[in-house]
Amino acid sequence: MQNDEKRIAGEAAVELVRDGMTLGLGTGSTVAFFLKALGEKVRLGMKVRGVPTSERTAHLCHQLGIELLDFASVDRLDLNVDGADEVDHDFRMIKGGGGALLREKLVALASRRNVIIADSSKAVERLGAFPLPVEIVRFGHHQIKRRIEEMGVRSTLRITGDVPYITDNGHYILDCQTGPIPDPAALEARLKSVTGVVDTGLFLCHCHTLIIGKGDEAIRRNKQD
Ligand code: 5RP
Repeated sequence: MQNDEKRIAGEAAVELVRDGMTLGLGTGSTVAFFLKALGEKVRLGMKVRGVPTSERTAHLCHQLGIELLDFASVDRLDLNVDGADEVDHDFRMIKGGGGALLREKLVALASRRNVIIADSSKAVERLGAFPLPVEIVRFGHHQIKRRIEEMGVRSTLRITGDVPYITDNGHYILDCQTGPIPDPAALEARLKSVTGVVDTGLFLCHCHTLIIGKGDEAIRRNKQD
C-alpha cells in the first residue's frame, strides 16, 4: 500500500515536467518511482537534464538514460522533485532519512519550484516522531554529539553494518530523537549554531507543491492554497 502511494505520487509529479526543463533530482524510494516514470518520458523523446542529489540517484539516472548536469554549471533549476520523511500542514519537513540532506537542501535552494512527493504516512500534525538527521563533520564527532546533548537533544550516530554511515560529502549523520518539535525554526537555529554541524534535515521553506499519494489518488496542494 505504502509503495503504491509512493508510485502514485511519483507518477503525478512527472506531469509537472516540461520538455527542456532543468531538474533537481531528489533521493529515496519515492523519487525512484518518479525517476522511473521520467525515464519513460525521456525514452519517448522528452529532453530534460537534472542535477542528482546523491550518488544513488546519479546511478539510477544513468540506468534510466536521464541526462545529468553539473551543478556548478547551473544558476537556477526549473523544478526540483524530492521526497520527505515527515511533512506538516505548513509544508515544513524532516528529510535525510536516506542520508542525502545536504545536497538535497542545496539543490532545493537553487530551484524555482520544489515539489515534494510522499505517501500518506509522511503527513504529520507535528514534526519530530521521525529521528531528525543532522549531518556533522567527522573530526570531533563525539564532542559535537555531546554539545547537542547538552542542548537536551539525544542522538545516535548512524551506523551501516558495523561502521558509521558516511554521506556522499564525507560526513557523519546523527539521528536526533527530538520528540515533537514545537518550534522547528528555533531548533534549526540552535543546531546550526554548534560548530561541526554542517546542516540539519529540517527543511522549513523548501516546498512549493506537495503531492501525497493517498489510497489510489494523488492529492496535490500548493503552498498558497
Ligand atoms: C533522503 C530523503 C528522502 O527523500 C526521504 O528519506 C524519503 O525517502 P523515501 O521516499 O524512501 O521514503 O530525504 O535523504
